[in-house]
Amino acid sequence: MMLTKKSGARREGRITRHDLLEEIGLATRGDESGSPGSSPASTRLDGLWGVEYVVAYMTDHLVTDYLLETHDLTKQFAGFVAVNGVSLRVRKGEIHALIGPNGAGKTTCFNLITKFLQPSSGSIVYAGRDITRQSAGSVARMGLVRSFQISAVFPHLTALENVRLALQQPTGLTFSFWKPTRVLDRLHGRARELLEAVGLSQYADTIASEMPYGRKRALEIATTLALEPELMLLDEPMAGMGHEDIARVSDLIRKVSENRTVLMVEHNLEVVATLSDTITVLQRGQILAEGAYEQVSNDPAVREAYMGTGGD
Ligand SMILES: Nc1ncnc2c1ncn2[C@@H]1O[C@H](COP(=O)(O)OP(=O)(O)OP(=O)(O)O)[C@@H](O)[C@H]1O
Ligand SMILES: [Mg+2]
Repeated sequence: MMLTKKSGARREGRITRHDLLEEIGLATRGDESGSPGSSPASTRLDGLWGVEYVVAYMTDHLVTDYLLETHDLTKQFAGFVAVNGVSLRVRKGEIHALIGPNGAGKTTCFNLITKFLQPSSGSIVYAGRDITRQSAGSVARMGLVRSFQISAVFPHLTALENVRLALQQPTGLTFSFWKPTRVLDRLHGRARELLEAVGLSQYADTIASEMPYGRKRALEIATTLALEPELMLLDEPMAGMGHEDIARVSDLIRKVSENRTVLMVEHNLEVVATLSDTITVLQRGQILAEGAYEQVSNDPAVREAYMGTGGD
């Protein structure tokens, strides 16, 4: 049974019982409550209740909207548990922030997810495939790309040359020296498009090292976009930036997230509050809280962790 989820439910990532009834044309106002067994539709479904329940169960458990899931992810360094049983679920299309005090294990989580580190235990599922044993290169080719992993922005090259180089990576547009000129033209055209997308058109011929700091981060994002990420991981994209750059890069992240999923580590809580759909708070390697900003920021345990009285 194919369910065409309504956008509201889709955003929530769950299909409710009401959605199911609506789908098969049996929804009534009474079903909005979701209480089983009381509505006229349920009466009509009497004998079908078991079937409905099974479909609802399968929908909730098998047809997920999660692009990335980690299950009990754990990483030990010589006996020290840096990441401890983290089960993270990143919903497709969202901006998901991973926050927490220094040393909480955020970057280690990123390293595990992007396969820069091998987990001690646990598993990682990306786009429905178990990637726990895959290499960093192969997950990047699957569209799971971390911002700085290729954007070693070459300081002596221009912005345009940097983006073109990123497009020439095996994970970007296929490139060969012997390809006809029109292919190279396409490459050039795509590089200019990407620079425009991140607001760097006027910097195309500027040597990267001579660009202002915030613009360099935008260039990094352009080189990441060259790899056509489906899930883009950003580790502290605002680090070291002033107000103006923060606003500009925030806008940029929002823009690039329109047709992809973003998982980011960020210490600037104002940025986290404005950008994120979902926030996971890590503390000492474990998930402390998860939810929308209002929910997480009002959580007493989170407040304690951030005030430092939690002992981190
Ligand atoms: N390669 C390693 N060997 C040993 N310990 C490590 C290693 N990498 C990280 N750690 C330790 O694991 C813990 C988590 O580090 P991690 O860098 O993931 O934290 P973080 O949440 O990213 O912190 P920050 O906010 O400061 O960037 C820290 O105590 C750190 O010292
Ligand atoms: Mg870190």
